Amino acid sequence: METLTKQLQSIIDKDLPLISNLSNASSVLNQLPNINWCGFYLVSGNRLILGPFQGEVACTVIPFDKGVCGYAYRTKKTVIVDDVNKFAGHIACSSQSKSEIVTPIIKDNEVKAVIDIDAPICNRFTKEDQKLLEEIADVLKELF
Ligand code: SME
Repeated sequence: METLTKQLQSIIDKDLPLISNLSNASSVLNQLPNINWCGFYLVSGNRLILGPFQGEVACTVIPFDKGVCGYAYRTKKTVIVDDVNKFAGHIACSSQSKSEIVTPIIKDNEVKAVIDIDAPICNRFTKEDQKLLEEIADVLKELF
């Protein structure tokens, strides 16, 4: 797991546009086993907008008061949802998604974006995944 963070550190280049770096970052995240979607939602004005991702077509705009992504934005904390059908307000982009993890990318105490990963099975995400995504968020915050 730690190697994903190392890979990311080696490919990101602060002199390149955010979109290029996050596109490659989404590809790195996509190496995680048993997932069906991974990518970024970026804070833009008073909402989250779809950023680089891997997987099926996804919703493009998420208000701060909606979805697992909005919840992670508001709480500034990683959210693990073991069964998306039991999370009130979950936004279903794909009927395949059964569990989800969302980690905010925070710089100067402000959420800049969230990392979102979906899995086609319930209970996919653990505290280890949380630790990994928080490490990755820490690396990526330098891009904002
Ligand atoms: N499920 C998310 C929406 C984004 S998709 O999973 C790609 C949510 O509830 O915020």
